[in-house]
Amino acid sequence: MLYILILITGKILFHSALAGTAGPGGPCSTTRDHLDPNTHKFLSDCSDQTYCSAQNGTCQPRGCRRDEFPFGYSPEDILPPLCPTGTFCPDQGDGCRLQVAVGGACQMDRDEQCAPAANWREFVNEENFYGSLCLKQVCMYANVTQGGRCIFDQNIYTDAGYDGRNVSVTIIRDNCRAPQLYCNQLTQVCERTKRLEEYCQLDQECELRNCVSGICAEPPETPLRVEAWQYVITVFCVMGAMVAICILLTLIHKRHRMQHYREIREYYFEQLSLRRSMIALHTAAADSGGFDFEGKSM
Ligand SMILES: *[C@@H]1O[C@H](CO)[C@@H](O)[C@H](O)[C@H]1NC(C)=O
Ligand SMILES: *[C@@H]1O[C@H](CO)[C@@H](O)[C@H](O)[C@H]1NC(C)=O
Ligand SMILES: *[C@@H]1O[C@H](CO)[C@@H](O)[C@H](O)[C@H]1NC(C)=O
Repeated sequence: MLYILILITGKILFHSALAGTAGPGGPCSTTRDHLDPNTHKFLSDCSDQTYCSAQNGTCQPRGCRRDEFPFGYSPEDILPPLCPTGTFCPDQGDGCRLQVAVGGACQMDRDEQCAPAANWREFVNEENFYGSLCLKQVCMYANVTQGGRCIFDQNIYTDAGYDGRNVSVTIIRDNCRAPQLYCNQLTQVCERTKRLEEYCQLDQECELRNCVSGICAEPPETPLRVEAWQYVITVFCVMGAMVAICILLTLIHKRHRMQHYREIREYYFEQLSLRRSMIALHTAAADSGGFDFEGKSM
């Protein structure tokens, strides 16, 4: 939690040092609109809640947002609207625009600015937006088949980590059909992705997009898979424990019953011997005369 807090604070400090400061109505120039070379975040002379209007060179409140929770707004602020399907909100956020057809210009890594293909279902994947991609600022479909010529876009994102040191991530994207194909950077041809345990150099080459020390590995977020034999052993262990408990309880119960039985038998024999000695006593008394046992009992 503390790390997350520091990370967020660090990021805000890092970004706010670079973001424009002009509020609504302030002067600006669209010629200074650019992407931060390290983080690739869109920056202009205007603050995060405004965009630079090209018509009169002033900052205007944003007309749309891309994210549910956009950067630079506090929970009390009124948020600009999200764009309806078929339109998109550009980086500067001036207003919703219609999606661009294949071959048209798009902003860096904004796949949602590209219109989907009629057959988008054939190559839709979590690595593209309804089968469309924005690579090198051009809209294209992720539809290149095996052996076809492909385009790849490599970007390095750098930002201050929670301890203040720069953390960089390299992202390579291509327009091959994913995840079964990837774009070989040397030949620029779509090739089959590598399975688990096969040799690799880049994450992109692996079907699961995770290359660890030269071997395709399962990504860390992969859920744990329980094998059939593990299920069988678990079931046997549980059954064994249940049977053992049943046997133990039966034995304890038997032992208790045996003890009880012994106690009753002892009591019975005691009563018998008591009775016998009483009879003997009476007989002895009758024999010695004076006491008529038979007569008294009548
Ligand atoms: C500048 O242009 C915006 C539209 O882009 C308009 O809403 C605003 O009123 C204009 N401001 C001035 C001072 O002309
Ligand atoms: C991919 O889409 C482009 C643009 O519509 C098309 O020209 C190309 O033939 C398609 N390629 C494949 C392999 O379907
Ligand atoms: C992080 O990278 C930026 C841009 O490359 C550089 O200006 C800055 O000095 C770096 N910071 C650290 C702590 O290395």
